[in-house]
Amino acid sequence: MLVKILLAVVAVLGAASAQFNRPICESSCGNVTISFPFGSGEECCYNPDFLVTCDRSSGEEIPFFGQRTSNLVISDMSPSKSEVEIMMFVGRDCYNSSGLVRRTGPTLRSGDLRISAKNKFVAIGCDTSAYFTGRRGSDPNGLDGTGCISKCGTNSILTNGSCSGVGCCEVAVPEGLRSFNMTLRSFNNHANITDFNPCSYAFFVEQGKFNFSTTNLLDFQSVSKMPMLLDWAIGNQTCDQAKNMDGFLCKGNSKCDQDYGGPGYRCNCVEGYEGNPYIENDCKNINECERGIHDCEHKCDDTPGNYTCTCRDGYSGDGRKNGTGCSADESTIIKIALGVSTSVAFLFICVTWLYLVLKKRKLVMLREKYFKQNGGTMLQKRISKDGSFNDQAKVFSIEELKRATNNYDESRIISKGGYGTVYKGVLSDNRIVAIKKSKLADQTQVQIEQFINEVVIFSQINHRNVVKLIGCCLETEIPLLVYEFISNGTLSDHIHNKGNLSALTWDIRLRIATETAEALSYLHSAASVPIIHRDVKPMNILLDDNYVAKVADFGASKLIPIDQNELATLVQGTLGYLDPEYLQTNQLTDKSDVYSFGVVLVELLTGKKALSFDRPEEEMNLAIHFLFSLKQGRLFQILDERLQLNEVPSEIIQVSRLAETCLRVKGDDRPTMKEVAMELQGVLASMIQKHPWVVTDHLNENESEYSVEELTTAFECMLEGNASSSTVNSMSKQTMLSFANGR
Ligand SMILES: *[C@@H]1O[C@H](CO)[C@@H](O)[C@H](O)[C@H]1NC(C)=O
Ligand SMILES: *[C@@H]1O[C@H](CO)[C@@H](O)[C@H](O)[C@H]1NC(C)=O
Ligand SMILES: *[C@@H]1O[C@H](CO)[C@@H](O)[C@H](O)[C@H]1NC(C)=O
Ligand SMILES: *[C@@H]1O[C@H](CO)[C@@H](O)[C@H](O)[C@H]1NC(C)=O
Ligand SMILES: *[C@@H]1O[C@H](CO)[C@@H](O)[C@H](O)[C@H]1NC(C)=O
Ligand SMILES: *[C@@H]1O[C@H](CO)[C@@H](O)[C@H](O)[C@H]1NC(C)=O
Ligand SMILES: *[C@@H]1O[C@H](CO)[C@@H](O)[C@H](O)[C@H]1NC(C)=O
Ligand SMILES: *[C@@H]1O[C@H](CO)[C@@H](O)[C@H](O)[C@H]1NC(C)=O
Ligand SMILES: *[C@@H]1O[C@H](CO)[C@@H](O)[C@H](O)[C@H]1NC(C)=O
Repeated sequence: MLVKILLAVVAVLGAASAQFNRPICESSCGNVTISFPFGSGEECCYNPDFLVTCDRSSGEEIPFFGQRTSNLVISDMSPSKSEVEIMMFVGRDCYNSSGLVRRTGPTLRSGDLRISAKNKFVAIGCDTSAYFTGRRGSDPNGLDGTGCISKCGTNSILTNGSCSGVGCCEVAVPEGLRSFNMTLRSFNNHANITDFNPCSYAFFVEQGKFNFSTTNLLDFQSVSKMPMLLDWAIGNQTCDQAKNMDGFLCKGNSKCDQDYGGPGYRCNCVEGYEGNPYIENDCKNINECERGIHDCEHKCDDTPGNYTCTCRDGYSGDGRKNGTGCSADESTIIKIALGVSTSVAFLFICVTWLYLVLKKRKLVMLREKYFKQNGGTMLQKRISKDGSFNDQAKVFSIEELKRATNNYDESRIISKGGYGTVYKGVLSDNRIVAIKKSKLADQTQVQIEQFINEVVIFSQINHRNVVKLIGCCLETEIPLLVYEFISNGTLSDHIHNKGNLSALTWDIRLRIATETAEALSYLHSAASVPIIHRDVKPMNILLDDNYVAKVADFGASKLIPIDQNELATLVQGTLGYLDPEYLQTNQLTDKSDVYSFGVVLVELLTGKKALSFDRPEEEMNLAIHFLFSLKQGRLFQILDERLQLNEVPSEIIQVSRLAETCLRVKGDDRPTMKEVAMELQGVLASMIQKHPWVVTDHLNENESEYSVEELTTAFECMLEGNASSSTVNSMSKQTMLSFANGR
């Protein structure tokens, strides 16, 4: 009965103790992970050498190596490195002036674990001899050992970080040491140096975990432990031996290594895996791609134990920077080459385009320069000032005129001379024009101003018998003037019978003279600013298809400011037509034009040239010859044979007298152009009354009809001489019309 009770008590106690047991195998203790072959109990570890005891008595978890009694704390351990770091005691040997005070020499017996050669043996002190002895391998009798000596005095030069025998010494630890006894001795009991170095210290420490400091000679009192590495292997068999035995510890994805000198074997996860090789399925694949520990150039794909690299489309190779890398396929090379050449071509086009744009810009700037130089800005100002200008004349662009003249084609040249070249051109609105490339020798500001002035004024002149200025182009170095095109050549051509032109009849000559006189009279008096033509001659009188006279070429013309009726200038004009008074005095007046017109009248009468060196000396100058003949009453002899006159009509006598007055040496004795025009109109009118048929041939049938009343009124006005020359002009035309239509 008593036995039964006792058993029951034991059973209860057993159950209670089992109930309070912690999990059999602890996975960690404090900061240290415990994993096989280590373990927190007999059942958990490979053998007692790998036992870890977790002590919680202090409230903290402290892992002790082996049994709690060992006092060796584990600070780190790793099955994958086959290493365990323990805190090993420091040995010391201390003195006071009376002698030895305290001496400790730690010992270790590590069983199957060995003291790693990654440790070193260090001694600190100035009167120090330290050494250790220990067993290596399996020889029970052999003891191996080594140590070092450090000597120094108060005046010794001590260096931080240097452990080479002065204040500090160290030796390497031999491979395979399984135990040690440490011994510390003093030569002189630290006599005379106890004040700065009372003790000697010695310890094993992991390489890199201790640096000597001169202060250690005094302050190392407080340091009791230093980290030390132990390494281990399983059993006493080689991999080859162990592999075929029961209880072989290297599990899946691991391999057996014999990399270390001592007996036994170690396990390692194969490359590309990590974990504890001693535990089934703990070696796990490493995802190199995720961790970025690959050398793929483009794309990384993880595989069990490895990874593969792939190149981008069109490239091939192993894709590894350390390997062949990625290189372009043939087709890709072609594509790249195509791409590059396309880019190059594109670039070339861009550069060319840019070049052309810049070139064009340069051209535009040059045109602008000429435009300014030729007074374009001034002209524009004038245009904006009097808005009327706009519908009178036009500023042409260089392109318009280029198109109009078919790029200044040779075949378009009408005439060419010292003054420049005249081209025939067709504007975009099909108007036929004469384009004159005139010359402006050295352009001073005054000259430019004059040129612009003239352009503005002449463009405003709207007289039937003055060639109309349609516009100009200032974008060229030499300004271009655009005139209406007069189809039938110059009066000179007709009088002197150039080409196949038929000789002009007297009535046509008279009408041309009248119209020219009207035009000049208009220029002298009726235009807004008096204008002296300065170069009146048959060459400058153009004829249209109906023999209507058009005064042209104002290249030499002068504008006379209103308050001045004389102008001192350089003598300019054509010999034979030049006013002798002007030639002498350089004083230009409207009477100079009257003289020149007188010569034209004589030319019309005689059909001879104003100046000809082919004639006898006294006849060389036509005007003088004419005056002389007139005086002598020999007018008939010098009249143009082509007029085919049997007797001198009264009109010719009248015109001859008029010519004589025009040719007077003194300007004041000459009539004004207005008087000349009126006189000629009178002659013309009386002739039309006498011979109403004379002008029929040359009239334009398209002109609209006029009523008799209108015409009569106009005629009366004309006779009164009050009408402005332009109205007179249009009336004379109307008058002629009326006769043409037989009314
Ligand atoms: C654990 O690690 C922390 C920080 O790393 C440290 O403060 C602590 O003292 C360590 N504990 C033990 C028991 O070693
Ligand atoms: C030296 O140490 C011993 C032991 O601690 C002590 O008895 C003695 O008094 C000390 N001597 C001096 C001089 O401090
Ligand atoms: C260490 O010393 C102890 C006693 O002092 C001795 O029993 C032991 O055999 C020694 N071991 C070695 C390896 O010297
Ligand atoms: C060595 O370093 C300590 C501080 O770590 C310093 O107090 C001491 O003076 C240094 N010794 C020498 C010789 O530089
Ligand atoms: C050290 O002290 C001893 C006596 O203890 C003395 O004989 C010796 O001369 C001293 N040495 C020095 C270097 O002071
Ligand atoms: C010792 O010194 C080296 C270099 O001077 C340094 O890298 C290392 O961290 C130091 N070790 C310790 C424990 O202070
Ligand atoms: C290996 O160790 C076992 C026990 O752990 C022992 O019986 C055996 O003799 C050892 N073999 C060798 C070669 O040391
Ligand atoms: C991974 O693959 C590459 C190429 O296939 C090979 O060179 C390398 O040795 C492999 N690494 C491992 C750990 O298998
Ligand atoms: C590539 O090669 C270099 C040296 O050749 C080596 O340091 C590096 O670790 C290698 N990288 C990989 C991912 O294998």
